[in-house]
Amino acid sequence: MPLVNTKEMFKKAYEGGYAVGAFNVNNMEIVQAITEAAKLENSPVVLQVSAGARKYAKHNYLVKLVEAAVEDTDLPIALHLDHGDSFEICKACIDGGFTSVMIDGSKYSYEENVELTRRVCEYAHNHVPYVTVEGELGKLAGIEDDVNVSDEDAQFTDPDQVYDFVTRTGVDSLAIAIGTSHGAYKFKPGQKPRLRFDILDKVSEKLPGFPIVLHGASSVMQEYVKIVNEHGGKMPDAIGIPEEMLREAAKKAVCKINIDSDLRLAMTASIRQHFDEHPDHFDPRQYLTDARNNLRNVVQHKIKEVLGSSNKA
Ligand code: G3H
Ligand code: 13P
Ligand code: ZN
Repeated sequence: MPLVNTKEMFKKAYEGGYAVGAFNVNNMEIVQAITEAAKLENSPVVLQVSAGARKYAKHNYLVKLVEAAVEDTDLPIALHLDHGDSFEICKACIDGGFTSVMIDGSKYSYEENVELTRRVCEYAHNHVPYVTVEGELGKLAGIEDDVNVSDEDAQFTDPDQVYDFVTRTGVDSLAIAIGTSHGAYKFKPGQKPRLRFDILDKVSEKLPGFPIVLHGASSVMQEYVKIVNEHGGKMPDAIGIPEEMLREAAKKAVCKINIDSDLRLAMTASIRQHFDEHPDHFDPRQYLTDARNNLRNVVQHKIKEVLGSSNKA
């Protein structure tokens, strides 16, 4: 099966009450770990590439790695641009083999966001084959590539804007802000994580059957924070989005859940632990094997216990 866009996978996810995991990829080990986990679970998956990842690994290398994973697994896999911030980067990814792009116009005024998103949709939808587009309304707190939104700037999505935004732009899915945030420092310990399910419900009342996306959905898995800190790391005490809340969102209109920080944490934890236990090792294949295995276990856990997408390929 060739790379797919997100149309069919989100339709099935909406109807089936689960979400597809969208995991960020930056190198071969990460692509392999995620797709091996998806294969073990027979799950669809979105592999997403940020502007930073494109700069780090180069566009063509990532496309070829993902194409190799498609060939290797024969799963429905979408290759998606994460947080595209201009028409030009979206066009470069559409022309360069991506099957889905996000245009994140959330830092602009509402009207500017509508115009930019509409322009990207026009280009993506006229491309052969059809490329799906994710838009964003509302602002998440935290750090994403070049976008740094402070807590005070973060603003929840206004459900009264979503119908107008979706119909005027033609987007295929919509990322909304309901209390998640990017990065590994979402909530201080003792703080009670809260997601605004009331906003999600209002959004889905306005857009029946329409796929919603949640960014900033890492749980900041405490077992890995502990391993990092036990082996010379310095991750400040912080907690993320509880997995039960994500599971609940996946049963509702949320069809795509973005996870990156948990993968970074799991990879770093196993590499730190590996060096502490084997100070004589200097072959990257030794510590990267541990890192890849650990990452695969985390993704398998997310697919099974959080997203609910096992056996939906
Ligand atoms: O939301 C952003 C993702 O975690 C990607 O992060 O821009 O540092 O690659 P990055
Ligand atoms: P996390 O930082 O919570 O993993 O979010 C990732 C994300 O939203 C990528 O777009
Ligand atoms: Zn994001």
